[in-house]
Amino acid sequence: MEEIPQLKVSGKDMKHLPCINDAWLAIEHDKIVGFGKMQDWEGIADWTNLTVIDATDKLVMPSYCDSHTHIVYAGSREGEFVDRINGLTYEEIFERGGGILNSAKKLRVASEEELIESALERLNEVMMQGAGAIEIKSGYGLSTESELKMLRVIKKLKTLSPLTIKATFLGAHAVPTEYKNNKRAYIDLLITEMMPAIAEERLADYCDVFCEQNYFTKEETIEILTAGKKYGMTPKVHAEQLSNSGGTLAGIEVGAISVDHLEFVGNEEIKALKDSETMATILPGAAFFLGLPFPPARKMIDAGLAIAAASDYNPGSSPSGNINFLLSLCCIQYKMTPEEAINATTINSAYAMDLSKTHGSIAVGKQANVFITKEIPGYSFIPYSFGSNLIETVIINGKVI
Ligand code: NIG
Ligand code: FE
Repeated sequence: MEEIPQLKVSGKDMKHLPCINDAWLAIEHDKIVGFGKMQDWEGIADWTNLTVIDATDKLVMPSYCDSHTHIVYAGSREGEFVDRINGLTYEEIFERGGGILNSAKKLRVASEEELIESALERLNEVMMQGAGAIEIKSGYGLSTESELKMLRVIKKLKTLSPLTIKATFLGAHAVPTEYKNNKRAYIDLLITEMMPAIAEERLADYCDVFCEQNYFTKEETIEILTAGKKYGMTPKVHAEQLSNSGGTLAGIEVGAISVDHLEFVGNEEIKALKDSETMATILPGAAFFLGLPFPPARKMIDAGLAIAAASDYNPGSSPSGNINFLLSLCCIQYKMTPEEAINATTINSAYAMDLSKTHGSIAVGKQANVFITKEIPGYSFIPYSFGSNLIETVIINGKVI
């Protein structure tokens, strides 16, 4: 794959995935320093002491960028998974104090060390499945102390994991039980207590809100994200996941870098996205796991939008960060071509976390985050072989993992 000059690819261009057959790729330290056709190799480089990896009949791909995860959490929620099989909905489980509130109960009593250990295990797993950069949200703390604990854990993970990590403050993930009858006071706490403390320690790049019935309204979303901007956090939104509740338009109004989920997005939102710089991000793992209607990905691409796809790795609605499987979902359920699905999980998802200048494609000067597959006939074989692990070698920051 060669350089994609744009920072994102939109509409018809998403069907285009530049590739080079029989190619070489050179890495020096942690950067990509060159690539080309094997027939042009002779004489162009005077590198000595090269470590050579033979990738004959294999594919070298830019690492995936996962722009939406909740990978720091305590415990698991397979009990709710079984409850849903037996007929309860995601909303009903939340109304009974489960869902996000269940994870908050578990997280509040977990130590930083426990959270770091379990998150690192997950990060290592997704790295071996091809991820090279990842966004991680708070949002299971829902108190100043526990939100700060989550964000400090994410900061620590940046030093412990070779992955490139971006942090998002999602205090507005749900109204915690103790503020059940006083959402206003919780929003004030987010803005007047949590945000200054987060800014003080520079703990978050982004601020996110779950804009949804029973969570936060469009107006509250705008208020929280506008306050977040004052503290240096770029807006993101959980938008139109369970209903059309205004999250997309709220996000565009405040200049969000991405609006994510979009199951219930309509024509008005698609048009507004077309006129914005906001990345429309689908989370096919969550729609698959919760049995939600699919976001109209085909319609959005055909309308000229750029689409990103991310895992939403979290214990309640998407307990997997395997982007290879996500490619299968994009192709099989959303009728995206393999090229569109790969662009959605590389350059466009890099854009959704301000990383497309350095990540998300193979280009000279970019971070040397790539993976090499087993012998496969071509990139379409990855989504085709759903559930298989076809990745043989992972290189992050120029080092074989
Ligand atoms: O992105 N929609 C809200 N937040 C998560 C789910 C979190 C949870 O259930 O724990 C999501 O799907
Ligand atoms: Fe999410």
